[in-house]
Amino acid sequence: MSVRIGVLHGPNLNTLGRREPEVYGSTTLAAIDAMIVESAGAAGAEVTSFQSNLEGALVDWIQAEASQVTGWVVNAAGFTHSSVALRDALVASGHPFVEVHISNVFAREEFRHHSVLADVALGVVTGFGPESYVLGMRGLLTHLAGRR
Ligand code: DQA
Repeated sequence: MSVRIGVLHGPNLNTLGRREPEVYGSTTLAAIDAMIVESAGAAGAEVTSFQSNLEGALVDWIQAEASQVTGWVVNAAGFTHSSVALRDALVASGHPFVEVHISNVFAREEFRHHSVLADVALGVVTGFGPESYVLGMRGLLTHLAGRR
């Protein structure tokens, strides 16, 4: 069976490139998606990605894609710290996911230190800039291939 990864981008990530560049850098979301597709493609995996500023739209997308994907790479952005609905949708999908963050959330405000997703994630990658997505994808693909 071919491997297909769903990449979820949460609120405000559509403004990457101009949003707080001192925190998030200057790479746009389109460029991040291209990096992800390239690295997944090199490993023989397909990618489908989605960004929304709306919690319900993200839940709808997870539900719609669940039968087509093998795993998820998730940057839930601000919803990381609050969304039980996203957590429930990811768990209900039955697929493993990696939580990723561009910034190092532990080096920032206290409220960013808690994630409602992390304890049900396969792993968490935080603080490597756009590379966090690529590292998360790599860990997920290794896991799915049964190599760890
Ligand atoms: C973020 C970190 C979150 O705390 C923040 O709300 C974001 C982006 C990151 O990628 O560093 O929007 O998920």
